[in-house]
Amino acid sequence: MIDKKVFVVAIDGPSASGKSSVSRELARRHGWVWVSTGAFYRGLAVVARELGVATSDVAKLSALADDERWQVVLADDRTRVLLDGKDVTDQVYREDIGNAASTISQIPAVRSRLLEGQRRCAKGVAGLVAEGRDCGTVVFPDAPVKIYLTAHSEHRFERRAREEGRSVEETRAAQTQRDLQDSTRASAPLQVAPGAVVIDTSHLDLPGVVNKVDDLVKAALASWKN
Ligand code: DC
Repeated sequence: MIDKKVFVVAIDGPSASGKSSVSRELARRHGWVWVSTGAFYRGLAVVARELGVATSDVAKLSALADDERWQVVLADDRTRVLLDGKDVTDQVYREDIGNAASTISQIPAVRSRLLEGQRRCAKGVAGLVAEGRDCGTVVFPDAPVKIYLTAHSEHRFERRAREEGRSVEETRAAQTQRDLQDSTRASAPLQVAPGAVVIDTSHLDLPGVVNKVDDLVKAALASWKN
């Protein structure tokens, strides 16, 4: 069940479009929580790897998706993952795990099992910023603010290469494959949600993007009834 009393900002977009940085800062400004829904897919990818489950094993991955041995935990800095009580967040944000997450996110049974946990993030909080690929289309379709962040691909590759200390060429190959996979899959592909405002971040710095999103948030808050 989606809690309609909670103000949700849904932010979607391709990899390295700045979703996490924008969500973190927007949540900080309003005293809300934020979640990277990608952490659910990444977390499952880490757990599968730790337990020796292949990314092609649909039955085992679906069962693991709601296995209580692992949890996603919300935090101010980044969305964390615990496996058997141990923090495995450092593994979660590696590029190889991002690619594995993209592969397993194509499995409809995995998506439907991870959905409930993502919606639970909106329980008992004043506001939630949720970012991912299908936050405005599937996870929180009634969110009063929906944003689609995008950036010219070369800007995104450079940004991610800088963050990870890798070459732009290496990053370009990995990201292109992942974006293609995320936007062409049959189940909940990355797309602009109905009613979403598209923001191109190519020529904006972080405060510039957050200000644009925040203007939309403030306007929506003014007319929002809960
Ligand atoms: O946003 P991210 O890079 O952490 O996401 C990792 C992968 O997880 C992404 O390539 C596709 C999948 N994902 C998804 O299918 N749906 C979401 N809402 C978020 C992520």
